[in-house]
Amino acid sequence: MPRATLLEASRTTTRLVEHVERLGAEHPPIELGSVDYTVHRPELFSQRFGHVLDYMARVELEVDRNVLELITLLPDPPEVDRRFYADVWQPQEIQHGLILDQLQVHVGRPPATPDLDTVGAKIKVLGALAHVGAIQDVVRMLYYLTGMATERSAVLAYNLLHDGVREMGETSVAETVIAPIRRQEPGHYAFYQLSAKGLWAELAGWQHWLVRRLRRFSFAPVGANDDAQKADFGEVMRTLGIDREASTFAQQISRVERELLWARDRGLKVPDYVAAAFREAVELAQARRAG
Ligand SMILES: [Fe+2]
Ligand SMILES: [Fe+2]
Repeated sequence: MPRATLLEASRTTTRLVEHVERLGAEHPPIELGSVDYTVHRPELFSQRFGHVLDYMARVELEVDRNVLELITLLPDPPEVDRRFYADVWQPQEIQHGLILDQLQVHVGRPPATPDLDTVGAKIKVLGALAHVGAIQDVVRMLYYLTGMATERSAVLAYNLLHDGVREMGETSVAETVIAPIRRQEPGHYAFYQLSAKGLWAELAGWQHWLVRRLRRFSFAPVGANDDAQKADFGEVMRTLGIDREASTFAQQISRVERELLWARDRGLKVPDYVAAAFREAVELAQARRAG
């Protein structure tokens, strides 16, 4: 690595270490005792937002599986990555999941059914290849890209959910459930963004090429791993009004990804695979509704 790149890399690491420390100190996992589950009109609330809570609770709880995937994908991660996911990210997200799940049970719905331990074949193959250091860096880049899109989606979705819940007059839920959860997501996004920018600058041309190829065929909206889950995601988009602004939403969650991976394609607003994935989710939801 050239000296300037090396210097920049060590600066990025320092910033990341500080960021992770600050997140850990300033954002302890939300205490269950701090939550007020008072809902004035549980039936109406459940009808309107129940499936959104369920989707988010599932995705948040599935961090346990995500950690297993990470251990498979990155056999030898930088220490700061391990600290982030083990000490900060996972404990926070699990709490988000538990709280959202409690809330949906509180309004009369069954609890979420997260998949906590199935590590897919694709991940295992990538993980096996990642024993070669140069490939692990490619895999790590994909992990950061996924992290950015996921966390940005979470921030935007919680913003919309917060507004919708407030509009219904369910202020306890808005203030003690959604607002505290939403406050913890931007720090996750910042971690991935800083990591992605730093690593992209270190990768060689062939690694860039491989990242672009793999990203194009592996992108999926957060938590949407099969057609049923994609349709569920489409329903969440509909309830939150994202389907009417799908391209703005797609732009916002993929801005840095576009700047890094697709800088050469000037005028491109959204990577085509991101736009296509959101369109597909909306269509699958529509098809399911139509029966
Ligand atoms: Fe979360
Ligand atoms: Fe998060």
